[in-house]
Amino acid sequence: MKIADLRVNHVKNALGFQLGSPGFSWKVIDGGDAKRQKSARIIITSKELTVFDSGDDPYANSLDYQADIKLMPRTHYDWSVTVTADNGETACASSWFETGKISEAWKAEWITPGFDSSIQPIMAREFTVKNEIKKARMYMCGLGVYELYMNGQKVGDEFLAPGYHSYDFHLQVQTYDVTSYLKQGVNEVQIWLGDGWFKGRFGVEGGYTNLYGDRLYAISELYITYQDKTEEMIGTDGSWKCRQSPITFSNIYDGEIYDARLEEDRNWEAVIVKAPTGCGPLTDRYSLPVVKKDRFDVAELIHTPKHELVLDFGQNITGWVEFDCDLPRGTDLCLTASEVMQDGCFYHDNLRTAKTEYTYLSKGEKAHVRPHFTFYGFRYVKVECKQPVSSESFTAYHLRSDFDQIGRIETEHEKVNKLFANVLWSQKDNSLDVPTDCPQRDERLGWTGDAQVFSETACYNMYMPAFYRKYLWDMRAEQDALGGSVPNVVPRLKQGLIAGHGASPWADAGVIIPWNVFLHYGSKTLLNEFYPVMKSWVDYRRNQGEEIADRHLVKDGFHFGDWLALDHDEPGPFGKTDTLYIASAYYYRCAKIVSEAAKVLGYERDSLKYGELALAILAAIQAKYVSPTSIGETQTGSALAIAFNLNPEYQAQEGEELSKRVELNNHHLNTGFVGTPLLCPALTKTGYHSTAVDLLLNEGYPGWLYSVNLGATTIWERWNSILPDGSLNPDGMNSLNHYSYGSVAAWMYADICGIRPQEPGFKKAEIRPHPDPRLGRVRGILDTAAGLFISEWDYGKDGKVSYSVSVPFDAAAILYLPPGRYKDINGMVQPHDGKGIELRAGTCRFTEQ
Ligand code: BGC
Repeated sequence: MKIADLRVNHVKNALGFQLGSPGFSWKVIDGGDAKRQKSARIIITSKELTVFDSGDDPYANSLDYQADIKLMPRTHYDWSVTVTADNGETACASSWFETGKISEAWKAEWITPGFDSSIQPIMAREFTVKNEIKKARMYMCGLGVYELYMNGQKVGDEFLAPGYHSYDFHLQVQTYDVTSYLKQGVNEVQIWLGDGWFKGRFGVEGGYTNLYGDRLYAISELYITYQDKTEEMIGTDGSWKCRQSPITFSNIYDGEIYDARLEEDRNWEAVIVKAPTGCGPLTDRYSLPVVKKDRFDVAELIHTPKHELVLDFGQNITGWVEFDCDLPRGTDLCLTASEVMQDGCFYHDNLRTAKTEYTYLSKGEKAHVRPHFTFYGFRYVKVECKQPVSSESFTAYHLRSDFDQIGRIETEHEKVNKLFANVLWSQKDNSLDVPTDCPQRDERLGWTGDAQVFSETACYNMYMPAFYRKYLWDMRAEQDALGGSVPNVVPRLKQGLIAGHGASPWADAGVIIPWNVFLHYGSKTLLNEFYPVMKSWVDYRRNQGEEIADRHLVKDGFHFGDWLALDHDEPGPFGKTDTLYIASAYYYRCAKIVSEAAKVLGYERDSLKYGELALAILAAIQAKYVSPTSIGETQTGSALAIAFNLNPEYQAQEGEELSKRVELNNHHLNTGFVGTPLLCPALTKTGYHSTAVDLLLNEGYPGWLYSVNLGATTIWERWNSILPDGSLNPDGMNSLNHYSYGSVAAWMYADICGIRPQEPGFKKAEIRPHPDPRLGRVRGILDTAAGLFISEWDYGKDGKVSYSVSVPFDAAAILYLPPGRYKDINGMVQPHDGKGIELRAGTCRFTEQ
């Protein structure tokens, strides 16, 4: 018996994170004979004093343990958990966390360079370390984006700090352990700054500059604690100096220019003390750090018919390319990133106005080169240089927020496995601090609709609570300024077309995402933190309804609806399914979720109120849209009705209709953002699982395997972003890395493998596998918040199915098998009536007889 995954507020070794009321979590692995937690004891110490001791607590919740402590700023805490199991065995593990400044006032001042604000600066100062150091911490924020250097060495492994958030409402502070970077005597601290999302060109249709500010700023406090326990603080102030950085240009979309000759520049000037205007207050960080996660060597070196030199890294990733450079002084090397080749040549047009370049000017010395304040969504990189370069010196790195993969599905169908791998990649690639629509073209925005439809899949694939917590924290701030409405993109761009809000089902992200996070990770603390977001979105809808004298249906307004569905009569991105029906259905779903969330949180009155509202909306939907002959004239219409239980009375009929409609469409789907995640679950739910598998396995257009057959390594924005002849869809809007259609993976986990949470956080799971011989043997492996579940099924030579299920320590499952007779792990044959078998921790097997 071992304890693993000790986290505070869902972060391991949280340094300087916004803790609020901290939730502690852990899990027991390798339980052996131990099946359940009998009690757990949590001890928190600081400065050798015990600040919290739960004693042996029989109710200690391993998903979200609330310790009643008052956290002090800039303080290191050690904590341990000792678990006693039902068989008397115990195990203990320990970890730590450290607070940031919490609400401690800043002594340092914001500084900004005095020179032209288009020049990207380095701000620096020297300081003397007088004695032997015990520890040193730097608390800081830089705007737009920054890197911190101590004595010429970059501090930490984090990039693009402070990340992209709603700067108008809050500014995140990062905490760095700089102890090992300092030396006794004279030291130099440097802060390098770039425009980033804050000030650089950003947004669609050419974008906007100076969106959040028109200058670059930094603030930092370096606390040095000496061995003799004395403390010293060195903060940013008027004594700092600044100069032009070798990064002569940087921008999220367009790339970066680095002139290494400017490294020699010693023309320091005084900084100006000036705070950014129009920004929110400094606050401890929410964002997970953006780090390098995977590396790729060049898979193929391509010399194109147009005499271009192109590096193929074999996988569409988000990140950048680094290289070792040994070029004569003044020589430049230029890289351009892209997703796809066309006619064997380099192609860049689907990135629209994003230049995605990197230019390095050599100073004539060997150097390892990498970008600083930009990133790319790419598989291919064109290299331009007058001097010969070796492909071996180039390496691509995938950068994203630092969360772990927790789910995996393996089948014997190679193309389905590739599809699943592509879903994982599109999730990873669209998780650079913000859940984005795409990582490559001139968008890379936190579109709420994309995030909403993918959030269930996201929560299965990766450990997402901290990542979504940051997104929802921004959403909450944006919502406050919009009277409860949820913007189309978060952080909100307040300019142009994307400044809109309240469009369905984009804005419904405000309810669906926090709920999925709760179902998957079981943290009431997080649910409570985002309950105001959920509630105010439903209230906003309701108030709007009152204005038009019908609070129970959405009757007007702009809605994206089933975006990019293929069933429309007119060309364009809108699907055929009535957008107001979709909006009303989501309104119902959201009111129902708020009622359930209120119940979980003990807000009985709210629970009743939103429950009643949900029923009233449902009645209005049924009166307007439901008839005995089916709601849906479209695949999406029916899928939505079934998934949201809009027509329980006619559900069987609706399922039959839907299945027929799919068959009539030659087993092709034609759904967009709304219908795609719901279609297969709706078919399985109504008994047409085999039709759903037909859809999954259809290799023609439109279908999931179409893109796999055309060599996709990520999920595309359109079902046919690339046409069968390899050319890009002339309709435009062709990102090859949009995860929405990858939302089918949630169905693969929940229905093919059959794993879904019966209790939030998987303390109890429902295991209801749906075997299909076309997939061969299937294994779903899910390292949930409660521990590792495995659901596997396989066909024997006689065509009989065997099922194997593993349940982790301190969790339970109910296994639903098709009615029949099964041989269990001990060779006993027993009948099962389909009612469900209670399983405890351990592994069991059942073979159909
Ligand atoms: C984005 C989408 C987004 C949509 C909404 C597109 O440009 O890439 O994924 O949700 O706009 O209009």
